Amino acid sequence: MEGFDFSSLKLISRPELFEFEGISMVHYFTENWENIQKFQARPDDILIATYPKAGTTWVSYILDLLYFGNEAPDRQTSIPIFMRVPFLEATFPPMPSGVELADNLPTKPRLIKTHLPIQLVPKSFWEQNCKVVYVARNAKDNAVSYFHFERMNKGQPDPGDWNTFLQMFMEGKKVFGPWYDHVCGYWEKKQTYSNLHYMFFEDMVEDPGCELDSLCSFLGLNTPIEERKKITKSTHFNNMKENKMTNYSGVPVMDFTISPFMRKGKVGDWKNHFTVAQNEQFDEHYKQKMKNTTLQFRIEI
Ligand code: A3P
Repeated sequence: MEGFDFSSLKLISRPELFEFEGISMVHYFTENWENIQKFQARPDDILIATYPKAGTTWVSYILDLLYFGNEAPDRQTSIPIFMRVPFLEATFPPMPSGVELADNLPTKPRLIKTHLPIQLVPKSFWEQNCKVVYVARNAKDNAVSYFHFERMNKGQPDPGDWNTFLQMFMEGKKVFGPWYDHVCGYWEKKQTYSNLHYMFFEDMVEDPGCELDSLCSFLGLNTPIEERKKITKSTHFNNMKENKMTNYSGVPVMDFTISPFMRKGKVGDWKNHFTVAQNEQFDEHYKQKMKNTTLQFRIEI
């Protein structure tokens, strides 16, 4: 996909949200549904699964460097991360669909990204016992990041103002459905599916080296310590923000004058957005939604 002209990606208007397979969706992620569900995973494929804005790009780049950082140097300088790690359910014509990109990936392993909730992940990933790396982020920061993303990305429905967005987020009326079900769904899966590595954005911010080590153990990689240090440095927020291959610059549907893709990369930015009343309402609702899970998040570090 080197040399693909992204300026040909012209979206006329923002998509509408609709109910699809039990969750809220936009047509960009449902149009190729049959092919998505029929997708043939291979045993060594690695699925990177997240709720939108939980750190997908970060972990994608870490995995890409772990596997391919020392191969073909032009991969790192000329192919944007979203082409190296295809977004399985995406269809943004005239770009090839995520399924096509994944099918044509020449790499071994193939790194594939999805935001689908657990129940909609193509079944071949489970049949092939593929490794799955899931990243979860606390609901408050995840919501804030998603709000700014919808503001700047014309491929998403209009978020309205912050309060409108937050109410919709709590109701689960966001693309890819409720955050609550998403994080809990993968958490439950992990109890019976040992090839799922569940990571937290907050841990990655607090101690990226330690998170990289546990990721390597899960993947069975014995990447030398010097190499790991290099990867931690390259995947630091500031470096990824400067790196044209990881910062989504040049994607015409995104307006960086409204908000950059690599925005803040912090834990606790929710404090700059939630009013006291919104926070109380959110906490009360959160308690109800999360009362049946052992999953715990940190909202500050
Ligand atoms: P913010 O909007 O809070 O800054 P995704 O890749 O799933 O879309 O997630 C994007 C979020 O992850 C953004 O959050 C982005 O800044 C943050 N992010 C990406 N790379 C990061 C890094 N290396 N360190 C910290 N945060 C990072």
